[in-house]
Amino acid sequence: MEIAAILNKPFGWRCSPNIAIVKYWGKLPGQLPASPSVSMTLDQSATETTVWFTDRLKVVEFEFDGNPAPLFAARIRSYLESVSGLLPWLLQVGVRISSRNNFPHSAGIASSASAFGALALCLADAHKHLGLVDGQQFYPLASRLARLGSGSASRSVFGGFALWGETPSVEGSSNLEAIALQPVHPVFNRMHDMIVVVSDQKKQVSSSAGHALMNRHPFAGARYEQARQRASLMPDVLAKGDLETFSRVTIAEGLGLHALMLASDPPVNLLHPLSVEVIQLADQFRLQTRLPLAYTLDAGPNVHLLYPEEMKPEMDRFSREYLAPLSGTVKIINDFCGAGPQPLSVQNND
Ligand code: DP6
Repeated sequence: MEIAAILNKPFGWRCSPNIAIVKYWGKLPGQLPASPSVSMTLDQSATETTVWFTDRLKVVEFEFDGNPAPLFAARIRSYLESVSGLLPWLLQVGVRISSRNNFPHSAGIASSASAFGALALCLADAHKHLGLVDGQQFYPLASRLARLGSGSASRSVFGGFALWGETPSVEGSSNLEAIALQPVHPVFNRMHDMIVVVSDQKKQVSSSAGHALMNRHPFAGARYEQARQRASLMPDVLAKGDLETFSRVTIAEGLGLHALMLASDPPVNLLHPLSVEVIQLADQFRLQTRLPLAYTLDAGPNVHLLYPEEMKPEMDRFSREYLAPLSGTVKIINDFCGAGPQPLSVQNND
């Protein structure tokens, strides 16, 4: 291994956030999940990160949107220390990182998954360049590195649908890294995610504090069992194109996550009155059209409406007619199921 092979060369990746279908909520020591989760990686929203390794030993510089961001640099320094067991050469270099999101911070899209996904891919790329990981193990390594930054990031290094967490019926599943779920029926190939942004306020509760609430939650055991059961259904649901079960599970998980938070000690209410309004409109639409519109929320107030390409005309109508009374108070971001991360063209490190 010749460290000079990676010095002062750009390693750049684009990575998208994901929306959880089966939620990761509750963790074990070592940044391991208390139960398995499944998500869909998005396409349009993305973080683009480029990393240069320098000979300025252990110096970590981080710029976001072209501006130095020393607060983030401190978090990234401790992250890089935490992955140096997997990437020992990190102890022999300095790191300069430049990152940007193509979605506004105020969009209310969780960015830790795409941020750590993109950074982990750059690190795994350098590891590959040093001849320390082969093509087959590249994405598993990137997923493992991403997980150590943010659990949900482990799923963003795969396109389509990914599962993270040991699930006995799913071969290859692991708590250490996510895997891509395949095959996927064509009906899920271009699944849309219409994100109804009802509030762009900063999160009231950090993910870590939220997960910690599960450590002493009276329903924790039942919740983890429920997540295990639902995660184990997903390979079959995705392979068969079972939209009914998909929407039933997706809705139950989004509402269930907030129910868990409301039943925590202390209780946490991240719902906005408009979140409830959008959910009720989606329920009315489901009842009136009998279409399998799915919706979900992560640990925030914004509602994700998930639907297959075939429902696009009906959903355009939903947006025009149902959401119209809320226009001016909500913002809509249209995204869809993505093919997965891409190396940035700045790369000339071959
Ligand atoms: C509600 O991955 O943000 O979005 O591992 O502490 O970084 P950390 O937590 P994070 O938690 C995500 C929680 C969730 C559900 C999910 O994405 O599965």
